[in-house]
Amino acid sequence: MRTFVVRARAAPTDSQALLASVGKEAHPEILAHTLMNAVFVAQSHRPDVKVHLVLESTRDFSRTISFDASAMQEIGGFDERALLGKIAKALDASRGMSKDEMRPVESGITVRTTSFERLVQELAEDHQLFVMDRKGTPIREQAFDGNPCFLLTDHIPMPKKTFHGLERLGAKKIALGSRMLFASQCVVLIHYELDQR
Ligand SMILES: C[S@@+](CC[C@H](N)C(=O)[O-])C[C@H]1O[C@@H](n2cnc3c(N)ncnc32)[C@H](O)[C@@H]1O
Repeated sequence: MRTFVVRARAAPTDSQALLASVGKEAHPEILAHTLMNAVFVAQSHRPDVKVHLVLESTRDFSRTISFDASAMQEIGGFDERALLGKIAKALDASRGMSKDEMRPVESGITVRTTSFERLVQELAEDHQLFVMDRKGTPIREQAFDGNPCFLLTDHIPMPKKTFHGLERLGAKKIALGSRMLFASQCVVLIHYELDQR
């Protein structure tokens, strides 16, 4: 299983605000691009993938929207509009939820009022955590076990104090070269590297 977490610090948790901010400062399209490259291949999808999108621009709680590719059914296309539509649907389903509640959205998709920190604490129990960072170990020098989990951000960097917390959970930094890439491009390169092994 390959797991990807995208921490989207600028992405609104209100569905209308999310859709209205495409192409603007919040850049929620990053979420659609990353989801697309994590889950889909030509004429098919990768069943061994889970994606957690953590949206943090909120008046109450962060929203963690989780996609389990093996259980997703009514995908309805892989274009930006379709994928942002799935995210907006999950946000609508989460209205009025209390902290750390979970609701099913549709087959293969759930939404939780769970923070990034809490999510990674849970994932650390049965995943090998990797923070994507240009200053990390080159990916080709890194060994992977059966359950790697890759942590990425949108265009806003991970706060420094988060790195210390992640280190305590055993997370390692890995790099995909020195050029700054989009999160969605990182996902393609990670799949490529793991596909070779
Ligand atoms: C557009 S970048 C984030 C840009 C942000 N301004 C920053 O300085 O971190 C999106 C994600 O891709 C990761 N990333 C970008 N290029 C990378 C590279 N060459 N190696 C590893 N991770 C990379 C970043 O660490 C981040 O998680």
